[in-house]
Amino acid sequence: MTILIEQPIFDSQFDVKNVDSNETNELVLDGGFSMPKEVSQNGFATPEVNSFGHSFRDYDAESERQKGVEEFYKLQHINQTYDFVKKMREHYGKLDKAEMGIWECCELLNEVVDESDPDLDEPQIQHLLQSAEAIRKDYPNEDWLHLTALIHDLGKILLLPQFGELSQWAVVGDTFPVGCAFDEANIHHKYFKENPDIKNPAYGTKDGIYTKECGLNNVMMSWGHDDYMYLVAKENGTTLPSAGLFIIRYHSFYPLHREGAYTHLMNDEDRENLKWLHVFNKYDLYSKSKVLVDVEKVKPYYQSLIAKYFPAKLRW
Ligand SMILES: [Fe+2]
Ligand SMILES: [Fe+2]
Repeated sequence: MTILIEQPIFDSQFDVKNVDSNETNELVLDGGFSMPKEVSQNGFATPEVNSFGHSFRDYDAESERQKGVEEFYKLQHINQTYDFVKKMREHYGKLDKAEMGIWECCELLNEVVDESDPDLDEPQIQHLLQSAEAIRKDYPNEDWLHLTALIHDLGKILLLPQFGELSQWAVVGDTFPVGCAFDEANIHHKYFKENPDIKNPAYGTKDGIYTKECGLNNVMMSWGHDDYMYLVAKENGTTLPSAGLFIIRYHSFYPLHREGAYTHLMNDEDRENLKWLHVFNKYDLYSKSKVLVDVEKVKPYYQSLIAKYFPAKLRW
């Protein structure tokens, strides 16, 4: 069975940023940004064309897409409240939806095909393996990072009927903390004024219900595939290092890792882990291309990593 997602699936790679915070109508897609210098320095070659042989982020209907992106973030910003996140965490924290291994889940994610993604005409497993293989090439000794790349998007199974078929605003897109003021670094910040939490004075200050440097582990993030996969990995007793779990949990937290917002909530461990998230992010963004990974060829390697860091069966 293949689930076709009719609405665009927004992941961090669809992140749209204001070019100038004073010019809210001027948007540019991520791929339009020039390559960070350190990417070419550490040897990761950026593909110049996507699956269709076009430049990345080359949309015929650019303005249509921007409208879709804005509509998506409007829904997300209105609906991701503190209470909603709490409810989702409780619900999915039961881990009573399925029992399966990590590789099984990679194959299950293949049923989600994002037909609206102009950069990717390939099954999701190709995005996972392409980012994992690219990191493996540049960081051969960090096997935990290879596995982290492989599993970072598995939480998108929340879109599938057997996992609740959540709306896209509850699965993908940039993430942000709830329970404190919404930083202006959040994309399409203006839509937060329709979020009911705005009326709660306890959530209205910079720290909100948190304290300075309390650590991100104590902060409730908007609900999505990041936090879900973190929960699954943690509760099933993964032995991935803290940096791997941090990447899984915060890879869509663009307001932090790109814009530098919310850093006042970080502790020392977060600051260390953030360095690895910056490394990872380049591969997440730029590893979608026509050069397909031979799944059967690399499968034994990733299965050995899965066996090293996870139990054979996990509760989801
Ligand atoms: Fe993701
Ligand atoms: Fe990703």
